[in-house]
Amino acid sequence: MEGYRELTQISVVGLGKLGAPLVAVLASKGFEVVGVDRVPLRVSALRAGRAPVMEPGLQDLLTRSLGRIDATTEIKSAIATSEVTFVVVPTPSGSDGTFSTACVISVVREIGSALRSKVGYHLVVIASTVMPGSTGGPICQVLETSSGRHVGSDVGLCYNPGFIALGSVINDMLRPEFVLVGESDARAGNLLVSVYERICDNSPHIQRMNFVNAEIAKMSVNAFVTGKISFSNMVSDICDRLPGADANTVLKAVGCDARIGDKYLSPALGYGGPCFPRDNAAFASMARRVGTQADFVEATDAINKRQPARVISLVRKLLPRGTVGVLGLSYKPATTVIEESQGLAIASQLAAAGYRVIAYDPQASDTDKSVLRGKVEIMAQAAACAEMADLLIIATPWPAFKHIPLEVFRRSNGPMFVIDCWRMLPANFADVVDLIYLGKYRHTGPKLRQRSA
Ligand SMILES: NC(=O)c1ccc[n+]([C@@H]2O[C@H](COP(=O)([O-])OP(=O)(O)OC[C@H]3O[C@@H](n4cnc5c(N)ncnc54)[C@H](O)[C@@H]3O)[C@@H](O)[C@H]2O)c1
Repeated sequence: MEGYRELTQISVVGLGKLGAPLVAVLASKGFEVVGVDRVPLRVSALRAGRAPVMEPGLQDLLTRSLGRIDATTEIKSAIATSEVTFVVVPTPSGSDGTFSTACVISVVREIGSALRSKVGYHLVVIASTVMPGSTGGPICQVLETSSGRHVGSDVGLCYNPGFIALGSVINDMLRPEFVLVGESDARAGNLLVSVYERICDNSPHIQRMNFVNAEIAKMSVNAFVTGKISFSNMVSDICDRLPGADANTVLKAVGCDARIGDKYLSPALGYGGPCFPRDNAAFASMARRVGTQADFVEATDAINKRQPARVISLVRKLLPRGTVGVLGLSYKPATTVIEESQGLAIASQLAAAGYRVIAYDPQASDTDKSVLRGKVEIMAQAAACAEMADLLIIATPWPAFKHIPLEVFRRSNGPMFVIDCWRMLPANFADVVDLIYLGKYRHTGPKLRQRSA
């Protein structure tokens, strides 16, 4: 195996949500890293030691690794001073759900041209998510024609997508459960594995294979994880309707079966964010392209899209009119990202249904102001949102919501409704509010509607 001791210089093209943390992680483990981005602001931020994107732990890691990080807008100079290049640029979804590789191809073409004036072996690692067939097809072709080199001999190519979640990117990179490597040849794979041996604090499973298997494996992992989420929410929806049922109890039992496992198996809202929904759309599109159907993935997404409507129909039963508070608008805690967020969908659909909607998010509130375009009032504090609401929905499980003072929930006309989608409020809240859980049966018939009207 190529010894990692010899490898010291790495470049990373794309300083976004994935690329910037990758720079910091590599530098923190002793590599000399040069980051490349076409946006000068991101480059100047990195050069000045500032995090180009918001991600917990990123600034800290950058500050600790300052002397080993440089940044540029020029791919050519980065290639000249590195031996391995990670490509982490966007692969946006097209109207048919497939990922566009236009950006990756254009970066790989530039890398290839730069390699013409460089002596020695170079490894190109595609970390962006691409469609099956892309790495061994157009990406490999462009690398060979632009560099004049043969992939597998004097230039190596790997597909190495990350399994990270925004908000825990650094930890996910330092302690991955497994590392997926699609490789052009053993030399390329060995070199990439040597990088992981140096950056990982744990000893992850390393799965090495050809390009197309790695491309399908990446999409299949996300398809299965989202399948577990939608399965839980399907059981939860049934439990809502059966007297005595509680999805938490049911799914806890189901998760004890080692063939299933308990992770991602609890009743809550659906998934969102920049990866899961679009990865499933791409998976379904890939299946159609090869003449079959990804029914499992399509059902998973259909169930997911129904979850905001499920909450809204519950609100309609509990509170025919009034002020609804929504806590949490980012698609998950510890991120500002609101893409495909279920909290955001609930807030805007409730406003469209005629409710006065007030909302709060610890980090995503500024972005939401523009997205919600005055339909929803953004509050400055969680406590103010809880205090003014007739009914409160906890849509994103930000830990800070557990610490809202209980006093602001007290009402003189009987307990207020709180739909705690993630079952996160401390038990003593049940003494003051009417706590409602998704997937736990409760009678919401005419008597209740009369009381809350
Ligand atoms: N964000 C995630 O949670 C996540 C998780 C797994 C996989 N991915 C995949 O990783 C890839 C990157 O995602 P991201 O979230 O980091 O994207 P991002 O949009 O946050 O960042 C991409 C960066 O690439 C830069 N860029 C674009 N074209 C460039 C070019 N020609 N030269 C230099 N820089 C260029 C952009 O300016 C931007 O800074 C995508 O394929 C995505 O699907 C992302």
